[in-house]
Amino acid sequence: MAVSGVAALLAALGGALWLAARRFVGSSVPRLHGGADAGLMRGKTVLITGANSGVGRATAAALLRLGARVIMGCRDRARAEAAAAELRRDLRRDGDPGLDPGLDPDGGAGELVVKELDLASLRSVRAFCREMLQEEPRLDVLINNAGVFQCPYMKTEDGFEMQFGVNHLGHFLLTNLLLGLLKSSAPSRVVVVSSKLYKYGDINFEDLNSEQSYNKSFCYSRSKLANILFTRELARRLEGTKVTVNVLHPGIVRTNLGRHMHIPLLVKPLFNLVSWAFFKTPVEGAQTSVYLASSPEVEGVSGKFFGDCKEEELLPKAMDESVARKLWDISEVMVGIVQ
Ligand SMILES: NC(=O)c1ccc[n+]([C@@H]2O[C@H](COP(=O)([O-])OP(=O)(O)OC[C@H]3O[C@@H](n4cnc5c(N)ncnc54)[C@H](OP(=O)(O)O)[C@@H]3O)[C@@H](O)[C@H]2O)c1
Ligand SMILES: *[C@@H]1O[C@H](CO)[C@@H](O)[C@H](O)[C@H]1NC(C)=O
Repeated sequence: MAVSGVAALLAALGGALWLAARRFVGSSVPRLHGGADAGLMRGKTVLITGANSGVGRATAAALLRLGARVIMGCRDRARAEAAAAELRRDLRRDGDPGLDPGLDPDGGAGELVVKELDLASLRSVRAFCREMLQEEPRLDVLINNAGVFQCPYMKTEDGFEMQFGVNHLGHFLLTNLLLGLLKSSAPSRVVVVSSKLYKYGDINFEDLNSEQSYNKSFCYSRSKLANILFTRELARRLEGTKVTVNVLHPGIVRTNLGRHMHIPLLVKPLFNLVSWAFFKTPVEGAQTSVYLASSPEVEGVSGKFFGDCKEEELLPKAMDESVARKLWDISEVMVGIVQ
């Protein structure tokens, strides 16, 4: 008994050490920020939706360090201002990794700007874009990052199923209204944050608002498949404009995305341990977004799917051109771009 007790204890200890080692040895995902890349984004304006939390926030931090002017498009001004204040504080604390201040009077880092944007409201998207077009002379990178994951059945202000409405339709209108600014700033980039869970979705045109039946997992996957089809159709439409658009999956990342998941109290410590050991940190999860937004390696690349800063294959259903076109046409009608 005693022997097996000791063995179990040792096994548990070994497991914990292994998990800790995994955490601290770090990931194999390439890091972009660092001396060589400092200033890479200087003079460039980047808009990130949902930049106050998780992957979006880490993306904002990284691009800020590369010198970009980062506009945080967020639905809650107070949460966004708090996140911006923390990012600025982190930057001051860590020191500016930019160029030698003696050589560069502006310092290396860029600036953060908070603007209100609720993707669950077409009125808010339109108001946001009006302000963008009035105040911003250029837009070099748009990162469609905000997302809702497996919420209970809810509708947006305009009556769309929430996940399809925010993850796809809100971003669809946003991108279309900013396309002129992106084109006049070319070469410019659109980066779309999707998920590997797109595999479990389908575009069921007969019930896009899920009024006949609602399955929260299916609707999340459907919205993430829509992100990919949107990317591919937009890339096709933008051929020859020097505006590129690519889509990515960030991996499994420890963020606030699971806010609608109900984990039983007793399972919570185990879940926390597993997520701490195996999930990416937001900084790791943001690497592919930062790569697609800034790396010279993907200059001119468009319509592709990425994970861990590398191109990946898509299932045929995510490459179906006729579904992509039909989704585009219906989305135009749904958001009121065309009647
Ligand atoms: N975490 C993962 O494992 C994982 C895996 C695959 C894909 N992704 C994708 O990664 C992206 C970022 O998610 P995350 O993991 O970083 O989650 P997160 O921490 O929950 O961040 C999501 C962001 O989206 C914002 N948002 C939600 N609804 C919005 C609306 N109506 N209008 C404007 N902004 C809204 C949230 O704002 P509030 O803070 O105000 O709620 C938050 O800033 C999502 O597109 C998600 O689908 C994540
Ligand atoms: C909900 O959708 C998911 C993903 O498409 C599927 O695996 C699951 O079986 C569905 N659940 C129900 C109750 O239909």
